[in-house]
Amino acid sequence: MKDIKDIKNVSIAGAGIMGASFAQIFGQFGYNVILYDISEKAITNAKELIKMNQKNLISENVISAEVSENTISNIEYSLNTDSFKDADFVIEAIAEKMEIKHKFWEKISNIVSKDSILTTNTSGLSINKISESVKNPERFCGMHWVNPPHIIPLVEIIAGAKTKQETLDLVNQIALSIERKPVIVKKDASGFVLNRLQYAILREAFYIVENDIASVEDVDKVMKYGLGRRYACIGPFETVDFGGIDIFHSVGSYMFKELSNSQEVSSILKELYEEGNYGVKSGKGFYDYSGDKGEKAIEKRDKDFIKVAKSLE
Ligand SMILES: NC(=O)c1ccc[n+]([C@@H]2O[C@H](COP(=O)([O-])OP(=O)(O)OC[C@H]3O[C@@H](n4cnc5c(N)ncnc54)[C@H](O)[C@@H]3O)[C@@H](O)[C@H]2O)c1
Repeated sequence: MKDIKDIKNVSIAGAGIMGASFAQIFGQFGYNVILYDISEKAITNAKELIKMNQKNLISENVISAEVSENTISNIEYSLNTDSFKDADFVIEAIAEKMEIKHKFWEKISNIVSKDSILTTNTSGLSINKISESVKNPERFCGMHWVNPPHIIPLVEIIAGAKTKQETLDLVNQIALSIERKPVIVKKDASGFVLNRLQYAILREAFYIVENDIASVEDVDKVMKYGLGRRYACIGPFETVDFGGIDIFHSVGSYMFKELSNSQEVSSILKELYEEGNYGVKSGKGFYDYSGDKGEKAIEKRDKDFIKVAKSLE
């Protein structure tokens, strides 16, 4: 089994939004990074994205120009699967389709050395199912990051049924070595932890708007100026402790039965989906992102995320 000091070469598969960001993080902490994709255009776009992200991090004083230069010099790009031969650690961030992930892992887990550590950044596909095509699945686990990963520090490390404890421990150490905040998800539960919590909130948010209890804008304000402010500093269990077990017990006794228990995709989400309104990427979602509004919204979001991260450091 590898040790943290053996981890030097990091191969990242998929040079999309997530993969490009991973390359910067590992490059910044001195790892030798190879960013692999099947598409030359994706590699070109990733170089541009990395340049833009680095520029923003410098302008927000998160990193110096010198650190950025070193980061970029630690990243190589490849269209060739032979580039996985010397990988000590692999993160797969390719298309979110089981058959594509199976094909990838079947090939790559036979190219890498038999003790390299292998992870998938799947958003929600089953780790156990993906691992069926991984040779030596005891060295394989989920490693789920949050977009934009170079700014948001959480990493969920998900155990598959065959993952060895040593693998989880090493992935945890790797995450700590790049100053992330790892958590262990002990079993392959759908949505892991973050998405289970996120979708529980979304179900209620949709219910509130559908039942005309409050507007989309006001639900967003409740999160941004109320719950979100609190949750950036303390978690739900800490919140209960601060508020009082007695209070949460008594409110819970009448509140839980009032909440949505819908098993369906919300009608307001379905309607936007069927109209082809996919949010920032299409110029319209719950809000208007036409013209340059989408780009400006992303810029403001990233600057705000950085401000919060800095103020809580
Ligand atoms: N975007 C998010 O917010 C987010 C968050 C957490 C997890 N994820 C997960 O991360 C993964 C990547 O997401 P993304 O948003 O970066 O996607 P993306 O579409 O931006 O990038 C995916 C990249 O993978 C490449 N690719 C596809 N098949 C490939 C293959 N067989 N071999 C090598 N490269 C291949 C594509 O060319 C593309 O460049 C997905 O599994 C996704 O569910 C995404």
